[in-house]
Amino acid sequence: MPTDKEPACDLDLATAEHIDMASMEFTYERLRQLARNKNLSRDEKIGFPDSYRVGYTDAILSDIVSKFNGMERRNGTLVDIGCGCGSLVQGVVALLHECNLKGIMVDSEEMLAQVPDNENIKKVAGFFPKNIDSIRQAAPEGADYLLCYSVLHCSSPDLNLFSFIDNIIDVLKPGGLALIGDIPNVSKRKRFFSSAEGIAFHKSFMKTDQAPAVEWLKVEHDKIDDAVLCGLVRRAQAAGCDAYILPQPSTLPMANRRDDLLIRKY
Ligand SMILES: C[S@@+](CC[C@H](N)C(=O)[O-])C[C@H]1O[C@@H](n2cnc3c(N)ncnc32)[C@H](O)[C@@H]1O
Repeated sequence: MPTDKEPACDLDLATAEHIDMASMEFTYERLRQLARNKNLSRDEKIGFPDSYRVGYTDAILSDIVSKFNGMERRNGTLVDIGCGCGSLVQGVVALLHECNLKGIMVDSEEMLAQVPDNENIKKVAGFFPKNIDSIRQAAPEGADYLLCYSVLHCSSPDLNLFSFIDNIIDVLKPGGLALIGDIPNVSKRKRFFSSAEGIAFHKSFMKTDQAPAVEWLKVEHDKIDDAVLCGLVRRAQAAGCDAYILPQPSTLPMANRRDDLLIRKY
């Protein structure tokens, strides 16, 4: 949603030919513009440099399936909030078919227009959780699985994370699982870049002999850290759910600085 806090951007994201994806901060509104940009690849349209996603879809999907207990529930519903239009959503659509699940794909109209149509999926446009009534209409039985992958950090500076989690829990069926995945955890990033492994990674990746700058005694406003993640776990537990912070396998491109949050509703 456009808000007063929407960061200013000098580029026209809908037409620019060169965008430094790795250093740019994205929001729902900025991503709507990117989705319209005909110069960009499928994964660049969701704000990733190709090197972060191309060739990783199978590893990401198999991690999602394992965190969803092998997706053992069949004939149910998976809601994908912030599905995007990249290579991962193509894999999710194929997986839905394989597991005989209905899919409710939730994102902006610009993103959804580029998700292939298919009789197993319904599309609900708009900003979650503002569009929760339309999601309930599309899936009155609730969700067996809810996927929200790589979304939390690029939604809106005004996003109320507790309300976001409350609404995710509301959409789940009893016994349903929600995976809020690929969350950049700035505390984890600091731990990694303070370690010998992280310093060596930084030097080789940035082609420098300087160690990365890590500021420990600094509150990172508008970023997600250990405290925020623990707060979300406690919020889900307070709503009667089990909730866990889980690591990503090292085969995933950003495993050294991202965490997943898994919620199981009773
Ligand atoms: C980085 S992309 C990730 C897309 C996809 N989940 C993936 O991992 O390939 C983030 C997506 O979330 C969408 N998004 C961000 N905030 C949202 C919100 N509050 N409601 C619905 N979609 C949202 C954006 O439009 C964008 O498509």
